[in-house]
Amino acid sequence: MATGAALMVVLSWAAGLAAAASVDTSPVPFQAGYMPLFGGDNLVRSPGGRSVRLKLDRRTGSGFVSKSAYHHGYFSASIKLPDDHTAGVVVAFYLSNADVFPRNHDEVDFELLGNRRGHEWRVQTNVYGNGSTSRGREERYLLPFDPTLRPHAYAVAWTPTAVVFYVDGTPIREVVRVPAMGGDFPSKPMSVYATIWDGSAWATEGGRYKVDYAHAPFAADFSQLVLGGCPAAAGGGARCAVAVMTAEFAVMTPAKRAAMRRFRRRHLLYTVCHDRYRYNGTVFPECDDADGSERDDFHRWGESKRVSPGRRGYKQQQQEEEEPRADKAAAGRPSTWPTIGTLRAD
Ligand SMILES: *[C@@H]1O[C@H](CO)[C@@H](O)[C@H](O)[C@H]1NC(C)=O
Ligand SMILES: *[C@@H]1O[C@H](CO)[C@@H](O)[C@H](O)[C@H]1NC(C)=O
Repeated sequence: MATGAALMVVLSWAAGLAAAASVDTSPVPFQAGYMPLFGGDNLVRSPGGRSVRLKLDRRTGSGFVSKSAYHHGYFSASIKLPDDHTAGVVVAFYLSNADVFPRNHDEVDFELLGNRRGHEWRVQTNVYGNGSTSRGREERYLLPFDPTLRPHAYAVAWTPTAVVFYVDGTPIREVVRVPAMGGDFPSKPMSVYATIWDGSAWATEGGRYKVDYAHAPFAADFSQLVLGGCPAAAGGGARCAVAVMTAEFAVMTPAKRAAMRRFRRRHLLYTVCHDRYRYNGTVFPECDDADGSERDDFHRWGESKRVSPGRRGYKQQQQEEEEPRADKAAAGRPSTWPTIGTLRAD
Protein backbone atom coordinates (compact mmCIF):
# COMPACT_ATOMS: atom_id res chain seq x y z
CA MET A 1 0.00 0.00 0.00
CA ALA A 2 2.66 2.41 1.08
CA THR A 3 4.76 1.28 -1.86
CA GLY A 4 1.87 1.87 -4.27
CA ALA A 5 1.30 5.35 -2.95
CA ALA A 6 4.97 6.14 -3.15
CA LEU A 7 5.04 4.89 -6.71
CA MET A 8 2.10 7.13 -7.57
CA VAL A 9 3.90 10.08 -6.09
CA VAL A 10 7.02 9.32 -8.09
CA LEU A 11 5.04 8.82 -11.28
CA SER A 12 3.12 12.05 -10.94
CA TRP A 13 6.34 13.83 -10.02
CA ALA A 14 8.01 12.52 -13.16
CA ALA A 15 4.96 13.37 -15.28
CA GLY A 16 4.90 16.81 -13.73
CA LEU A 17 8.52 17.34 -14.61
CA ALA A 18 8.02 16.20 -18.15
CA ALA A 19 4.98 18.42 -18.57
CA ALA A 20 6.45 21.40 -16.79
CA ALA A 21 9.75 21.54 -18.59
CA SER A 22 10.34 21.18 -22.26
CA VAL A 23 13.31 22.23 -24.27
CA ASP A 24 12.83 25.07 -26.71
CA THR A 25 14.67 24.17 -29.90
CA SER A 26 13.39 27.02 -32.04
CA PRO A 27 16.05 29.30 -33.53
CA VAL A 28 16.80 32.58 -31.78
CA PRO A 29 18.09 35.87 -33.17
CA PHE A 30 21.81 36.38 -32.68
CA GLN A 31 21.55 39.02 -29.98
CA ALA A 32 19.03 37.01 -27.98
CA GLY A 33 21.57 34.34 -27.18
CA TYR A 34 25.01 35.32 -28.44
CA MET A 35 27.54 38.12 -28.36
CA PRO A 36 30.69 38.85 -30.38
CA LEU A 37 33.86 37.22 -29.07
CA PHE A 38 36.71 38.46 -31.28
CA GLY A 39 37.52 39.65 -34.77
CA GLY A 40 35.94 43.14 -34.75
CA ASP A 41 34.32 43.88 -38.09
CA ASN A 42 35.10 40.38 -39.37
CA LEU A 43 31.87 39.45 -37.60
CA VAL A 44 28.95 40.76 -39.65
CA ARG A 45 25.34 40.43 -38.53
CA SER A 46 22.49 40.33 -41.00
CA PRO A 47 20.08 43.29 -40.73
CA GLY A 48 17.41 41.15 -39.03
CA GLY A 49 19.91 39.55 -36.66
CA ARG A 50 18.94 36.03 -37.74
CA SER A 51 22.30 35.21 -39.29
CA VAL A 52 25.93 36.09 -38.81
CA ARG A 53 28.92 35.99 -41.11
CA LEU A 54 32.31 35.12 -39.66
CA LYS A 55 35.33 36.05 -41.74
CA LEU A 56 38.99 35.13 -41.67
CA ASP A 57 41.53 37.36 -43.37
CA ARG A 58 45.21 38.11 -42.97
CA ARG A 59 44.55 40.24 -39.89
CA THR A 60 42.26 38.00 -37.86
CA GLY A 61 39.63 35.33 -37.65
CA SER A 62 36.41 36.00 -35.76
CA GLY A 63 33.96 34.38 -33.41
CA PHE A 64 30.97 34.65 -31.13
CA VAL A 65 29.95 33.11 -27.82
CA SER A 66 26.68 32.45 -26.02
CA LYS A 67 25.69 34.92 -23.32
CA SER A 68 24.84 32.06 -20.97
CA ALA A 69 26.64 28.93 -19.94
CA TYR A 70 24.50 25.79 -20.19
CA HIS A 71 24.39 22.61 -18.20
CA HIS A 72 23.23 20.16 -20.89
CA GLY A 73 21.01 20.82 -23.86
CA TYR A 74 20.73 20.86 -27.63
CA PHE A 75 22.79 23.34 -29.59
CA SER A 76 22.56 23.77 -33.32
CA ALA A 77 23.70 26.10 -36.06
CA SER A 78 23.18 26.00 -39.79
CA ILE A 79 26.48 26.77 -41.43
CA LYS A 80 27.38 27.57 -45.02
CA LEU A 81 31.10 27.15 -45.53
CA PRO A 82 33.43 29.14 -47.78
CA ASP A 83 34.12 27.53 -51.15
CA ASP A 84 37.10 27.31 -53.46
CA HIS A 85 40.55 26.99 -51.88
CA THR A 86 40.17 26.75 -48.09
CA ALA A 87 43.13 24.62 -46.98
CA GLY A 88 44.07 25.35 -43.37
CA VAL A 89 40.78 27.11 -42.58
CA VAL A 90 38.91 25.86 -39.52
CA VAL A 91 35.28 26.69 -38.80
CA ALA A 92 34.34 25.51 -35.33
CA PHE A 93 31.03 25.17 -33.53
CA TYR A 94 31.63 23.92 -30.02
CA LEU A 95 30.91 23.94 -26.31
CA SER A 96 33.65 24.76 -23.84
CA ASN A 97 34.35 26.10 -20.36
CA ALA A 98 38.09 26.65 -20.82
CA ASP A 99 37.63 30.29 -19.77
CA VAL A 100 36.32 29.21 -16.35
CA PHE A 101 38.34 26.01 -15.87
CA PRO A 102 41.65 26.56 -17.65
CA ARG A 103 43.23 23.42 -16.17
CA ASN A 104 40.32 20.98 -16.17
CA HIS A 105 37.95 22.19 -18.83
CA ASP A 106 35.23 20.30 -20.71
CA GLU A 107 34.70 20.58 -24.45
CA VAL A 108 32.47 19.20 -27.22
CA ASP A 109 33.61 20.05 -30.76
CA PHE A 110 32.45 20.26 -34.31
CA GLU A 111 35.46 21.34 -36.35
CA LEU A 112 34.96 21.83 -40.06
CA LEU A 113 38.27 21.53 -41.84
CA GLY A 114 38.86 23.33 -45.14
CA ASN A 115 40.71 21.82 -48.04
CA ARG A 116 42.43 22.52 -51.31
CA ARG A 117 40.37 23.50 -54.31
CA GLY A 118 38.53 20.45 -55.60
CA HIS A 119 38.92 18.54 -52.34
CA GLU A 120 36.22 18.04 -49.75
CA TRP A 121 35.77 19.75 -46.47
CA ARG A 122 36.12 17.32 -43.59
CA VAL A 123 34.31 17.29 -40.30
CA GLN A 124 35.95 16.46 -37.02
CA THR A 125 34.18 15.79 -33.72
CA ASN A 126 35.79 15.55 -30.33
CA VAL A 127 34.91 15.32 -26.64
CA TYR A 128 37.02 16.28 -23.63
CA GLY A 129 36.13 16.10 -19.95
CA ASN A 130 37.80 17.68 -16.97
CA GLY A 131 41.00 18.52 -18.83
CA SER A 132 41.46 15.19 -20.66
CA THR A 133 43.37 16.95 -23.44
CA SER A 134 46.01 14.25 -23.57
CA ARG A 135 43.25 11.82 -24.53
CA GLY A 136 41.83 13.26 -27.73
CA ARG A 137 38.70 11.47 -28.88
CA GLU A 138 38.72 12.59 -32.48
CA GLU A 139 36.61 11.30 -35.29
CA ARG A 140 36.66 12.62 -38.85
CA TYR A 141 34.09 12.28 -41.61
CA LEU A 142 33.33 13.24 -45.15
CA LEU A 143 29.96 14.87 -45.75
CA PRO A 144 27.21 13.51 -48.02
CA PHE A 145 26.74 16.98 -49.54
CA ASP A 146 28.70 20.01 -50.63
CA PRO A 147 28.73 22.17 -47.47
CA THR A 148 29.67 25.30 -49.45
CA LEU A 149 26.49 25.45 -51.56
CA ARG A 150 23.91 26.04 -48.83
CA PRO A 151 23.57 25.93 -45.06
CA HIS A 152 23.49 22.59 -43.26
CA ALA A 153 22.68 21.99 -39.61
CA TYR A 154 25.40 20.85 -37.21
CA ALA A 155 24.08 20.05 -33.75
CA VAL A 156 25.21 18.69 -30.41
CA ALA A 157 22.89 17.01 -27.90
CA TRP A 158 24.54 16.90 -24.50
CA THR A 159 22.82 15.10 -21.62
CA PRO A 160 24.14 13.71 -18.32
CA THR A 161 24.52 10.32 -20.01
CA ALA A 162 25.57 10.93 -23.62
CA VAL A 163 26.77 13.32 -26.29
CA VAL A 164 25.22 12.91 -29.73
CA PHE A 165 26.46 14.77 -32.80
CA TYR A 166 23.98 15.46 -35.62
CA VAL A 167 24.38 16.61 -39.20
CA ASP A 168 21.10 17.69 -40.81
CA GLY A 169 19.19 15.69 -38.22
CA THR A 170 21.15 12.47 -38.76
CA PRO A 171 23.10 11.31 -35.74
CA ILE A 172 26.70 10.71 -36.80
CA ARG A 173 28.28 9.91 -33.43
CA GLU A 174 27.09 8.91 -30.00
CA VAL A 175 29.46 9.05 -27.04
CA VAL A 176 27.76 7.17 -24.22
CA ARG A 177 29.00 7.94 -20.74
CA VAL A 178 30.35 4.82 -19.07
CA PRO A 179 31.67 4.76 -15.49
CA ALA A 180 35.20 3.86 -16.63
CA MET A 181 35.44 7.24 -18.41
CA GLY A 182 35.79 8.84 -15.01
CA GLY A 183 36.11 12.60 -15.43
CA ASP A 184 36.60 12.36 -19.19
CA PHE A 185 32.90 12.97 -19.89
CA PRO A 186 31.96 16.68 -20.02
CA SER A 187 30.03 17.47 -16.88
CA LYS A 188 30.38 21.16 -16.00
CA PRO A 189 28.40 24.03 -17.55
CA MET A 190 29.75 25.16 -20.91
CA SER A 191 29.25 28.13 -23.21
CA VAL A 192 28.57 27.74 -26.93
CA TYR A 193 31.12 29.10 -29.40
CA ALA A 194 31.40 29.62 -33.13
CA THR A 195 34.72 30.66 -34.66
CA ILE A 196 36.73 30.79 -37.85
CA TRP A 197 40.49 30.69 -37.59
CA ASP A 198 43.79 29.76 -39.17
CA GLY A 199 44.49 26.07 -38.50
CA SER A 200 47.47 25.89 -40.88
CA ALA A 201 49.48 23.88 -38.37
CA TRP A 202 47.19 20.84 -38.48
CA ALA A 203 43.82 21.23 -40.21
CA THR A 204 44.50 19.98 -43.75
CA GLU A 205 46.39 16.72 -44.12
CA GLY A 206 48.16 17.21 -40.85
CA GLY A 207 49.37 20.73 -41.70
CA ARG A 208 50.71 19.97 -45.14
CA TYR A 209 48.49 22.60 -46.75
CA LYS A 210 48.41 26.06 -45.12
CA VAL A 211 45.97 28.92 -45.41
CA ASP A 212 46.59 30.84 -48.64
CA TYR A 213 45.50 34.41 -48.00
CA ALA A 214 45.40 35.15 -51.70
CA HIS A 215 41.95 33.54 -51.40
CA ALA A 216 40.86 35.58 -48.36
CA PRO A 217 38.55 36.62 -46.93
CA PHE A 218 37.08 33.23 -46.02
CA ALA A 219 33.48 33.65 -44.89
CA ALA A 220 31.23 31.21 -43.04
CA ASP A 221 27.54 32.03 -42.60
CA PHE A 222 25.72 30.97 -39.45
CA SER A 223 21.92 30.88 -39.16
CA GLN A 224 19.14 28.91 -37.43
CA LEU A 225 20.86 29.38 -34.08
CA VAL A 226 19.35 26.99 -31.53
CA LEU A 227 20.26 27.23 -27.85
CA GLY A 228 17.98 24.56 -26.39
CA GLY A 229 19.88 24.23 -23.17
CA CYS A 230 19.62 24.55 -19.42
CA PRO A 231 21.08 27.94 -18.51
CA ALA A 232 23.50 27.31 -15.67
CA ALA A 233 22.56 30.49 -13.83
CA ALA A 234 18.82 29.78 -13.87
CA GLY A 235 18.79 26.97 -11.31
CA GLY A 236 16.27 24.20 -11.95
CA GLY A 237 19.14 22.10 -13.24
CA ALA A 238 17.70 18.70 -12.36
CA ARG A 239 14.31 19.48 -13.82
CA CYS A 240 15.84 20.81 -17.02
CA ALA A 241 18.20 17.82 -17.26
CA VAL A 242 15.17 15.51 -17.17
CA ALA A 243 13.57 17.54 -19.94
CA VAL A 244 16.76 17.31 -21.98
CA MET A 245 17.12 13.57 -21.45
CA THR A 246 13.57 12.85 -22.54
CA ALA A 247 13.58 15.23 -25.51
CA GLU A 248 13.44 13.89 -29.04
CA PHE A 249 17.04 14.86 -29.79
CA ALA A 250 18.35 12.81 -26.84
CA VAL A 251 16.44 9.60 -27.47
CA MET A 252 18.24 7.22 -29.81
CA THR A 253 15.54 5.20 -31.52
CA PRO A 254 16.40 2.09 -33.57
CA ALA A 255 15.74 4.12 -36.71
CA LYS A 256 18.19 6.79 -35.62
CA ARG A 257 20.82 4.20 -34.76
CA ALA A 258 20.37 2.61 -38.19
CA ALA A 259 20.78 6.02 -39.85
CA MET A 260 23.91 6.62 -37.81
CA ARG A 261 25.40 3.29 -38.83
CA ARG A 262 24.65 4.07 -42.47
CA PHE A 263 26.30 7.45 -42.24
CA ARG A 264 29.35 6.04 -40.50
CA ARG A 265 29.78 3.20 -42.94
CA ARG A 266 29.93 5.66 -45.82
CA HIS A 267 31.55 8.73 -44.34
CA LEU A 268 33.68 7.86 -41.34
CA LEU A 269 37.33 8.56 -42.12
CA TYR A 270 38.93 8.23 -38.74
CA THR A 271 37.88 7.23 -35.25
CA VAL A 272 40.07 7.00 -32.23
CA CYS A 273 38.10 3.90 -31.25
CA HIS A 274 39.77 1.79 -33.93
CA ASP A 275 43.17 3.44 -33.89
CA ARG A 276 45.57 0.74 -32.71
CA TYR A 277 48.60 2.99 -32.58
CA ARG A 278 47.65 6.35 -31.22
CA TYR A 279 47.48 5.40 -27.57
CA ASN A 280 49.63 2.33 -27.78
CA GLY A 281 46.80 -0.12 -28.08
CA THR A 282 44.68 1.40 -25.34
CA VAL A 283 41.02 1.53 -26.30
CA PHE A 284 38.76 4.07 -24.63
CA PRO A 285 36.12 2.46 -22.41
CA GLU A 286 33.16 4.04 -24.21
CA CYS A 287 34.16 2.59 -27.57
CA ASP A 288 31.60 0.04 -28.63
CA ASP A 289 31.63 -1.89 -31.87
CA ALA A 290 30.01 -5.10 -30.77
CA ASP A 291 30.12 -6.95 -34.09
CA GLY A 292 33.42 -5.47 -35.21
CA SER A 293 32.03 -4.39 -38.59
CA GLU A 294 32.95 -0.76 -38.17
CA ARG A 295 36.47 -1.64 -37.15
CA ASP A 296 36.86 -3.82 -40.22
CA ASP A 297 35.67 -0.99 -42.44
CA PHE A 298 38.01 1.38 -40.72
CA HIS A 299 41.04 -0.78 -41.17
CA ARG A 300 40.17 -1.28 -44.79
CA TRP A 301 39.54 2.39 -45.48
CA GLY A 302 40.55 4.53 -42.56
CA GLU A 303 41.86 7.97 -43.30
CA SER A 304 42.63 6.84 -46.83
CA LYS A 305 38.97 6.66 -47.81
CA ARG A 306 39.33 7.99 -51.28
CA VAL A 307 37.06 10.33 -53.14
CA SER A 308 37.79 11.31 -56.70
CA PRO A 309 36.35 14.76 -57.02
CA GLY A 310 34.34 15.93 -59.96
CA ARG A 311 34.25 19.70 -59.87
CA ARG A 312 33.48 19.53 -56.19
CA GLY A 313 33.68 15.82 -55.69
CA TYR A 314 30.30 15.04 -54.27
CA LYS A 315 28.71 13.57 -57.36
CA GLN A 316 31.53 11.13 -57.90
CA GLN A 317 31.53 10.29 -54.25
CA GLN A 318 27.87 9.39 -54.36
CA GLN A 319 28.38 7.12 -57.34
CA GLU A 320 31.18 5.30 -55.60
CA GLU A 321 28.97 4.74 -52.64
CA GLU A 322 26.40 2.93 -54.73
CA GLU A 323 28.91 0.25 -55.62
CA PRO A 324 28.92 -2.99 -53.65
CA ARG A 325 31.28 -2.95 -50.74
CA ALA A 326 33.32 -5.85 -52.13
CA ASP A 327 34.31 -3.63 -55.05
CA LYS A 328 35.29 -0.87 -52.70
CA ALA A 329 37.53 -3.23 -50.81
CA ALA A 330 39.27 -4.27 -53.99
CA ALA A 331 39.85 -0.66 -54.92
CA GLY A 332 41.01 0.33 -51.43
CA ARG A 333 44.40 1.74 -50.69
CA PRO A 334 45.24 0.44 -47.25
CA SER A 335 48.89 1.25 -47.83
CA THR A 336 48.20 4.97 -47.47
CA TRP A 337 46.48 4.54 -44.13
CA PRO A 338 47.57 5.59 -41.43
CA THR A 339 49.20 8.93 -40.91
CA ILE A 340 47.51 9.41 -37.64
CA GLY A 341 48.21 10.96 -34.34
CA THR A 342 49.51 14.08 -36.06
CA LEU A 343 46.25 15.61 -37.11
CA ARG A 344 45.36 17.54 -34.04
CA ALA A 345 48.07 19.79 -32.73
CA ASP A 346 46.64 20.81 -29.38
C1 LIG B 1 38.52 16.93 -12.20
O1 LIG B 1 39.76 17.63 -12.10
C2 LIG B 1 39.97 18.17 -10.82
C3 LIG B 1 41.22 19.02 -10.90
O2 LIG B 1 42.25 18.37 -11.57
C4 LIG B 1 40.07 17.04 -9.80
O3 LIG B 1 40.28 17.56 -8.52
C5 LIG B 1 38.77 16.24 -9.83
O4 LIG B 1 38.87 15.12 -8.99
C6 LIG B 1 38.46 15.77 -11.24
N1 LIG B 1 37.14 15.18 -11.28
C7 LIG B 1 36.91 13.99 -11.81
C8 LIG B 1 35.50 13.51 -11.79
O5 LIG B 1 37.79 13.31 -12.32
C1 LIG C 1 53.56 0.50 -25.55
O1 LIG C 1 53.31 -0.86 -25.32
C2 LIG C 1 54.46 -1.69 -25.37
C3 LIG C 1 54.01 -3.15 -25.27
O2 LIG C 1 53.15 -3.34 -24.21
C4 LIG C 1 55.43 -1.27 -24.25
O3 LIG C 1 56.60 -2.05 -24.30
C5 LIG C 1 55.79 0.20 -24.43
O4 LIG C 1 56.60 0.64 -23.38
C6 LIG C 1 54.52 1.06 -24.51
N1 LIG C 1 54.88 2.42 -24.83
C7 LIG C 1 54.35 3.46 -24.22
C8 LIG C 1 54.80 4.79 -24.68
O5 LIG C 1 53.54 3.33 -23.32
